[in-house]
Amino acid sequence: MHHFVYRENELYAEDVPIKKIAEAVGTPFYLYSHATLKRHFHTFNDAFQGIYPLVCYSAKANTSLAILKLFSDLGGGLDIVSGGELYRGLKAGFSSDKIVYSGIGKRVDEIDYALSSKILMFNIESLEELELIDKRAGILKMKAPIALRVNPDVDPKTHPYISTGLKKNKFGLDIQSAIEGYKAANRLQNVRIIGIDCHIGSQITEAKPFEDALQSLINLKNEIEKFGIKIKYLDMGGGLGIVYEDESPLHPSEYAKTIAALLKDTSFQLILEPGRVIVGNAGILVTRVLYRKSGLKKKFVITDAGMNDLIRPSLYDAFHAVQPVVKTEETQIVADVVGPICETGDFLAMDRKISDVKKDDLLAVMSAGAYGFAMASNYCSRPKLAEVMVKDNQFHVIRARQQYSDLMEGESIPSFIQG
Ligand code: LLP
Repeated sequence: MHHFVYRENELYAEDVPIKKIAEAVGTPFYLYSHATLKRHFHTFNDAFQGIYPLVCYSAKANTSLAILKLFSDLGGGLDIVSGGELYRGLKAGFSSDKIVYSGIGKRVDEIDYALSSKILMFNIESLEELELIDKRAGILKMKAPIALRVNPDVDPKTHPYISTGLKKNKFGLDIQSAIEGYKAANRLQNVRIIGIDCHIGSQITEAKPFEDALQSLINLKNEIEKFGIKIKYLDMGGGLGIVYEDESPLHPSEYAKTIAALLKDTSFQLILEPGRVIVGNAGILVTRVLYRKSGLKKKFVITDAGMNDLIRPSLYDAFHAVQPVVKTEETQIVADVVGPICETGDFLAMDRKISDVKKDDLLAVMSAGAYGFAMASNYCSRPKLAEVMVKDNQFHVIRARQQYSDLMEGESIPSFIQG
């Protein structure tokens, strides 16, 4: 459920007609519903009644400041994968003792930044990283709080590019290496083992992969306790899927039940890192039809948003529903909805049945709140689009559209090529 609904054939975001925002802001833009963001956060959090998990919103899904601030105000923690996300998170007001740091390629400067910011936990993904974190903590005269990220080798049954917990994936440590890793960590002076972590993939719709992963974490915990290692935090990562088309993902309450059932005889503090399930259906992309044309084989609807604005269809063949903002036409056509970029892969929808839209019509590309703006780029020197948040009957531009001058920020021409 979300707050993008038609009222008499016109799409609204909460109580604001989307057409009105497009007139004020121009297109394309991302549009978020404050009420939906808030409700998704609460629904997820409240699903774990009696367990009190630390919900560390996964910044990468949507890292815009206003969205981060909303979740920090709601008492959330943050899952980060870079120094940049740490910087944004701290600016948005997250308390550092609610920040967990994952990622296989943490640089020295990022490790130092996270250590000196006193984050809750490093989720370590290799033995070399463990060694480096121990060394840096020693230099900074600190003890680094750590978990090892385990790769439990379960099939999340999702797109191969967003599976992360299979043997062949680059993430985490296999169980045997994790056992060795915990033993090694136990001998180090400057780390404090506090957790165990996994993240098996994204857009997961079934309970089984989560169950299997959690069971292997619990088994591992029992194993390493034999060496006197005590684990306080169990971080299950993120990954819960959403409805884009006709999927039937687990509801957060079923997801919570699955986890609670396995945790009932343990005393972990649970950490979760949801991203998509919170922001995915709280945002849409609004774009305008520039032109239509018919090729010999296909009809094309050409929009002012392209793969640089929303790359998911191009990269993962992802489905996003495309709807007219104002419904005027009963007739349906089958068309490719394509962007202005000079690549065949630049499409928002392929062979899609949509209403027979006209030049200048507005389209809403649904379920675009997660990994939408966050993955946008300046490809083809296209300024990054604006982001807008709606609350009740008001809207606010939370990120201004880039200007042409922004495109050259930080660039310079060396003297040896100046004439
Ligand atoms: N924790 C870790 C360590 C992660 O790597 C991720 C996502 C999450 C949490 C959040 O997962 P979520 O709850 O959002 O599924 N760009 C792709 C998704 C990549 C996910 C990467 N990791 C897409 O657009 O589908």
